[in-house]
Amino acid sequence: MEFDEVVRNRRMSRDFNDTLISHALIDELLDAVRYSPSAGFTQGFRFLVLTEENARFSFFKITSDELWLESSDSKMITNAPVIIIPFCLKSEYINRYSQTDKLISHNNENFMEVQGTAFWITDLSFATMILLLNAENLGLGALFFAIHNNLDKLKSHFNIDGDADLIGAVAVGYKSGVNRQTARTKLKKSEIIKFNSWN
Ligand SMILES: Cc1cc2nc3c(=O)[nH]c(=O)nc-3n(C[C@H](O)[C@H](O)[C@H](O)COP(=O)(O)O)c2cc1C
Repeated sequence: MEFDEVVRNRRMSRDFNDTLISHALIDELLDAVRYSPSAGFTQGFRFLVLTEENARFSFFKITSDELWLESSDSKMITNAPVIIIPFCLKSEYINRYSQTDKLISHNNENFMEVQGTAFWITDLSFATMILLLNAENLGLGALFFAIHNNLDKLKSHFNIDGDADLIGAVAVGYKSGVNRQTARTKLKKSEIIKFNSWN
């Protein structure tokens, strides 16, 4: 698909049909994240991919509100055949910025963040965006959603490093065609882009 088409057509999908995604396509989807930029070329992002029904069930059971999980609304997301949880590893950045090609003054956590956002979170966000775009590129639907509940329990259930941080999860599947979009629309260029001065 043309890049422009991918960017303009990508929307969060909130309804998936029952079609499974082949392992080859899941592999192709995820391969793209390797090309994401990263601070210091650290590549401290990792992706836990849940393809087995039991694993996906546990994921939702641990992280979701019980009322939501029992509602018909949830089915549209929980029936996604693949859940991907992007993680980042702060320790990889600490190690990377202590290497000899880095300035000694950059080997501290203050350098590795801008206005409260750590490099590892920025990198993870970029890589997750590549995942969302590649899903569109491959004819798949994807939804990024925040997760708030029981993160420690989630980590211990899936044997994830205690050190690993996450920003949310991505549900992936074939689009059902009944997507529920909000009434909100994309802003105009003039509303979000300023040239040379904020005014
Ligand atoms: C940080 C973040 C958290 C989000 N959390 C959710 C969520 O929990 N549930 C959901 O349905 N969509 C979630 N979204 C998707 C947004 O609602 C969506 O991106 C927005 O409505 C714009 O629509 P579009 O992505 O289709 O262009 C989230 C997006 C971001 C960036």
